[in-house]
Amino acid sequence: MTQKQDTVTLLAIESSCDDTAAAVIRNCKILANVVSSQEIHGTYGGVIPELAGRAHQQHILPVVQKALETAGVSSSELNAIAYTQGPGLMGSLLVGGHFAKGMSLALGVPSIGVHHLQAHVAAHYLSEPRPAFPFLCLLVSGGHTQIILVKDFLDMEIIGSTIDDAAGEAFDKTAKMLGLPYPGGPLVDRYAEDGNPLAFPFPVARIEGYDYSFSGLKTSLLYFLQKQQKADAGFIEKHLNDICASMRHTIIKTLLQKFEQAVSDLGITNIGIAGGVSANRLLRREFELLGKKRGWKTFIPPFEYCTDNAGMIAIAAHYRYTAGEFTPLDALPFAR
Ligand code: KG4
Ligand code: ZN
Repeated sequence: MTQKQDTVTLLAIESSCDDTAAAVIRNCKILANVVSSQEIHGTYGGVIPELAGRAHQQHILPVVQKALETAGVSSSELNAIAYTQGPGLMGSLLVGGHFAKGMSLALGVPSIGVHHLQAHVAAHYLSEPRPAFPFLCLLVSGGHTQIILVKDFLDMEIIGSTIDDAAGEAFDKTAKMLGLPYPGGPLVDRYAEDGNPLAFPFPVARIEGYDYSFSGLKTSLLYFLQKQQKADAGFIEKHLNDICASMRHTIIKTLLQKFEQAVSDLGITNIGIAGGVSANRLLRREFELLGKKRGWKTFIPPFEYCTDNAGMIAIAAHYRYTAGEFTPLDALPFAR
């Protein structure tokens, strides 16, 4: 059943990993987008699921209150409550999902469980100009790397995927091996800006079709560092910028080579990038250059909607709401 209404106001909650986020959207316009990132994982070199769940419990109420306050919207004006249903960490998803369902029950409005990866792609609909359909989206996050054919707002088909690590994971593991804190992707990006991308050649994995693989690259960096550190214990410190630049160059080259092939094979002219790694400076530059070179129209969501946020959940939920697609209260989260 399609919902016909002049004003649609939704609250959306995102809690799939280590960011507690809430957003308020009215008729496709974001009125508030609040993110509270969990600092606690930095010292452990990765997200500790148990700690993430506990931190979500502490943050969720203040984050939701702040979103409503910033938007100047009272809970009685909300038409539905949206939340990330999955994929993500089970304990983290349960906190956001239960909170959203509790609000739905209390307010007597429907709840909408949103697919986290669909939402990353839907972030493209939050700003103008929007990509026309069909468009091909390279989704690059900490947990996923996919080439997605987007046929309509929420009609998407995955045509390629990583067979092991995600691109974000490759960045984070590079950082970990270099002794940088989690999440290391943004740091590797920053150090790489002052390094030589051709200083150390690393291999680009050759995988059939439109799939990716990044685990071999990780192993190759590990062996390279072990060998170099044996000869010179200060190798990493001395060559940090060049190592970061060389790894970043290899990851981005791997991503874009395959993506370019897919776009060209499918004859699509609207292309986008989404997910946390689309914040990467080199990826953004090279992606724009590729578009210019091939005459393709390129789309990148605004920075604040690239890494995990609830604004993207809100816009995906808007289209689910107007299509009358709600989620029953007994729906379970899905981890993958
Ligand atoms: O989409 P996202 O916020 O969360 C997931 O759904 O996974 O993506 C987080 C990932 C992390 O691996 C993080 O290191 C990476 O995005 N990331 C970056 C940059 N900013 C975030 N990787 C490379 N360069 C960046 N500037
Ligand atoms: Zn994400």
